[in-house]
Amino acid sequence: MKVAVLGAAGGIGQALSLLLKTQLPAGSELALYDVAPVVPGVAVDLSHIPTAVNVKGYGKDDLAPALVGADIVLIPAGVPRKPGMDRSDLFNINAGIVSNLIEAIADNCPDAAIGLITNPVNTTVAIAKRVLEKKGVYNKNKLFGVTTLDVIRAETFVAEIHGKNPAEVQVPVIGGHSGTTILPLLSQTGLDFSDEQIEQLTHRIQNAGTEVVEAKAGGGSATLSMGQAAARFCLSLVKALQGDDSVIECTYVETDGSDALFFAHPVRLGPKGVEEILPYGELSDFEKKAKASMLDGLKNDIQTGLDFVK
Ligand code: 2OP
Repeated sequence: MKVAVLGAAGGIGQALSLLLKTQLPAGSELALYDVAPVVPGVAVDLSHIPTAVNVKGYGKDDLAPALVGADIVLIPAGVPRKPGMDRSDLFNINAGIVSNLIEAIADNCPDAAIGLITNPVNTTVAIAKRVLEKKGVYNKNKLFGVTTLDVIRAETFVAEIHGKNPAEVQVPVIGGHSGTTILPLLSQTGLDFSDEQIEQLTHRIQNAGTEVVEAKAGGGSATLSMGQAAARFCLSLVKALQGDDSVIECTYVETDGSDALFFAHPVRLGPKGVEEILPYGELSDFEKKAKASMLDGLKNDIQTGLDFVK
């Protein structure tokens, strides 16, 4: 497997690259691309860790060689939020960055599975779809918005409340990756919550990114937990692409549009990427209402992305 990380020298990129260097299967290749001049240093630094994963750094003029032969491309590139900002405030800068990177993917590794982390994810994934379509290489089974951070946050917070080991808690999270579009399905955890707990937990999961942005006080947004989330998603994808078609992750993918064109679902992954978009099952009344009231916002986020590409 060759995995390329675009934006590898940033906060998420470095955490993610470290986890991949230590956890990718032996014989894998890790291509680290960034416009920041420190990227060759990040690659050398990681290369001293004794695992059978070959790491190589690629500077700003070497995007094409970083991508050639890639099976998976993860994109955390872009600017993060500052306090008071919503993810959509990043659109003006990050939309152009994502669009350029996706064009290069279309030219150099059109069959690669793409995991988009760059915010606003609700919108950047739609940009990627349009750019890939324009290049004639769009495959909806290989384009993913990484929403795993919402899942691991939900698992952590639910485990805290119930005094459980987070490894034993599973919380599907559907919808998008911003504010109220993030919808954790607490009714499907097999655990009991009071109405008040459901409201508070849901709100905390939806605003957990902002919790980090505020705690970092101008120093950026979540990087370490996002790195862990993206690594988990990537390792699941590696397993799947290598032939295991029983891996399930919640991720933001193109659907039949019954909720919105892109919508995070539990997805069964496999050699083709998406093997099957699984139904998210029966929702509680609270979840039904929450879904109904966020759909217009999510559809609007998606349309903004589709319209960005002329
Ligand atoms: C978050 O949820 C960075 O969007 C990311 O914190």
